[in-house]
Amino acid sequence: METLVVDHPLVAHKLTVLRNAETDSPTFRRLADELVTLLAYEATRHVRVTDVTVETPVAPASGVRLAQPYPLVVPILRAGLGMLDGMTRLLPTAEVGFLGMIRNESTLKAETYATRLPDDLSGRQVYVVDPMLATGGTLAAAVEFLFERGAYDVTALCLLAAPEGIAHMDQVFAGSGRPIRLVTAAVDERLNENGYIVPGLGDAGDRLYGVV
Ligand code: URA
Repeated sequence: METLVVDHPLVAHKLTVLRNAETDSPTFRRLADELVTLLAYEATRHVRVTDVTVETPVAPASGVRLAQPYPLVVPILRAGLGMLDGMTRLLPTAEVGFLGMIRNESTLKAETYATRLPDDLSGRQVYVVDPMLATGGTLAAAVEFLFERGAYDVTALCLLAAPEGIAHMDQVFAGSGRPIRLVTAAVDERLNENGYIVPGLGDAGDRLYGVV
């Protein structure tokens, strides 16, 4: 998996406020949204475009527009919803699909419990949004699912990633030849015994939406 850690003072500033346990939920939501837009700028570097010509008030000018089929943005429920608006602001013509993933406590593997996606993703560029890449189990299952449906490439946007999650993705997709990218604001130290990223920012879903 190609991993890009976005190195930018605004990204670092917003992430620092997100990490702060004293940041309240409205501020957390707003900053997560702003941070996603900054990550999305880098994550869409490979978005496909087609050449077009437009008439300026002065003369014809060559340019580009997003190619069809338009990209698909897939938030992983629940916390990924907090990253959706930041993505669609930059990609207003993108379609949005939803994936609910849960860990099966017998097999310890992530399974899909809810999907609302086109059946056929042939040729689609897919942007998966999930704030925390922790063990990597959920992201790996989501990416596998999307490739099974024909996705052309998959780019994951995560606010934070753990080295363990990146290693898991690398191991699962090693030699698969699948075009998979990760764009994140930081790679933290490690996971703790409860599966939280350290130092991390806590439970992203709870900080976005409260403990429900
Ligand atoms: N999910 C979270 O919300 N936070 C973590 O630190 C790890 C997984």
